[in-house]
Amino acid sequence: MNNIIIYGSNYGTTEQYAKELSKRTNIEAISFENVQEINKYDKIIYIGGLYAGGVLGMSKTLRKLTNIQNKTIIIATVGLADPTDEKNINNIRNNIKVQISKEIYDKAKIFHLRGGIDYSKLKFFHKTMMKLLYNAVKNIPQEKLSSENKAMIETYNKKVNFVNFSDLDKIVSEI
Ligand SMILES: Cc1cc2nc3c(=O)[nH]c(=O)nc-3n(C[C@H](O)[C@H](O)[C@H](O)COP(=O)(O)O)c2cc1C
Repeated sequence: MNNIIIYGSNYGTTEQYAKELSKRTNIEAISFENVQEINKYDKIIYIGGLYAGGVLGMSKTLRKLTNIQNKTIIIATVGLADPTDEKNINNIRNNIKVQISKEIYDKAKIFHLRGGIDYSKLKFFHKTMMKLLYNAVKNIPQEKLSSENKAMIETYNKKVNFVNFSDLDKIVSEI
């Protein structure tokens, strides 16, 4: 079996999960930017950071898959919002649906992990995006906020880290 862990990470939290998963499973982990020939793998584990609902690098990478019939595909997202919140999970999955083919979506096992953020390290573009988003939702009453927006408001301009390697257990079992 030829297996691979592919990750899409801007600031390292997703990469941390991917490397830990690699250590636990003995499957090589590489960034999506360095994937040469995705079709040679039988089992593909894609772990991507969430950016405005998009899973970093996933669409670009999985688009290159030709025949998935005999393949195992696992997708894990890493975001700031609570990945145990049902509404958040629904949101993430609806977003994933429009980023990959129906065939891949139906075949994939999907997991959700929690990352972190350090505003002092954000690139200008990302800082600006967060500021715009924060200003758009900061006055919405608490009870009407989605868990994504709640998490964003609570952590705005801060440094937080929710990385929890024990959340990888379920993915290890699946593998
Ligand atoms: C511009 C921007 C957009 C983001 N959008 C989302 C989002 O839609 N949902 C979410 O849960 N987290 C979102 N986040 C938080 C990231 O997913 C989180 O910081 C994650 O740990 C990043 O992974 P990385 O460190 O591997 O890049 C966003 C962060 C930034 C900077």
